[in-house]
Amino acid sequence: MHAPFFDAHSIRLVQAPMAGSQNHALAAAVFKAGGLGSLPAAMLNAEQLHKELSDFQRAIASNVLPKVSWASLLPVNVNFFCHTPPKAQPDKEAAWRLKLSPAYQSHGIDPATVGAGPGRAPFSEESLALMGEFKPAVVSFHFGLPKPEWVQQLKAWGIQIWSSATTVAEAQWLERQGADAVIAQGLEAGGHRGMFLTEDLSSQIGTFSLLPQIVKAVKVPVIAAGGISSAAAVRAAKSLGATAFQVGTAFLTSHEATTSTLHRQALMSEAARHTALTNLFSGRPARGIVNKFMQDFGPLNPDAPDFPLATAAVAPLRAVAEAQGSGDYSPLWSGQNASDCEALPAAEIAHKLLQGWSS
Ligand SMILES: Cc1cc2nc3c(=O)[nH]c(=O)nc-3n(C[C@H](O)[C@H](O)[C@H](O)COP(=O)(O)O)c2cc1C
Repeated sequence: MHAPFFDAHSIRLVQAPMAGSQNHALAAAVFKAGGLGSLPAAMLNAEQLHKELSDFQRAIASNVLPKVSWASLLPVNVNFFCHTPPKAQPDKEAAWRLKLSPAYQSHGIDPATVGAGPGRAPFSEESLALMGEFKPAVVSFHFGLPKPEWVQQLKAWGIQIWSSATTVAEAQWLERQGADAVIAQGLEAGGHRGMFLTEDLSSQIGTFSLLPQIVKAVKVPVIAAGGISSAAAVRAAKSLGATAFQVGTAFLTSHEATTSTLHRQALMSEAARHTALTNLFSGRPARGIVNKFMQDFGPLNPDAPDFPLATAAVAPLRAVAEAQGSGDYSPLWSGQNASDCEALPAAEIAHKLLQGWSS
């Protein structure tokens, strides 16, 4: 156990980083409610991330910080993707655009105007410098860890390193590489699967199967993620050995999230009973509410360009459809359990969840 973080003024609730659906406002609200907020950096450039961190600092400035060693750092989890960017795939991207051409045509989009290139950037030298400037309490990663020198530098600043594990082997690998905690991301989870040692989807299992296996296999604290949206689920995660729990989907409809109206409506409708893993929106499997794009072209399609190159081809379709009030081409990320999604202040959602830990 890492006493300073998880004991004295223990962090139990971690608000899941959700790139594209939240900013400092949600992170600050959850922090003020007694949890740890997260700032997702995957879709921000350095300037935007600098602004988010400064805004977070300002948002919590009047708060009395817990008197524990980690609180001398900025009390937030900054989250990065750490994939290896793929080589350019002009042929694969062109073939994919050709495949999507019926959809482009029906939306009045000229395929020749559709852009290419990445939609998400991995942790970099620039990110490291920003972490040195702001010194957050936690830096977490999705898709493994960045190079060991960078991990060592972050740790030397006193920053905790967390990363998602979707299998026992990934959890053990992360522990060996020096992760201070692992996030056991069950198959129910919304958004991207954090898988990085395997591409085999048959290895991906539900939270309450994965969590006890990881707890048994590693010594570092394990944070349960995936499908946790009620006090009862929090109690279950605690009883299976979780040191803390991470919640995403249940915060998507909070007042402070930046989730679009279309996405909020889908989460609180019957549509949210049908989610699937899809690689169509980015190139990697991620869980979202089934929509027309997934029905017509996937949900998993081997022809989609590699992560994150697939992002560009769908962007104009998404823009046209959303302007017409349709979520047919939007990534409606959601976990399998959106049944507790309510339009509430994040603090209320946090308090309900935290009751499960203390009861
Ligand atoms: C809209 C959305 C965006 C997400 N973006 C990220 C991200 O940027 N980084 C990350 O590590 N995890 C991301 N995740 C996954 C969460 O960290 C977490 O594993 C998941 O939300 C837990 O399952 P739940 O959604 O059922 O609560 C995202 C999840 C959602 C729903």
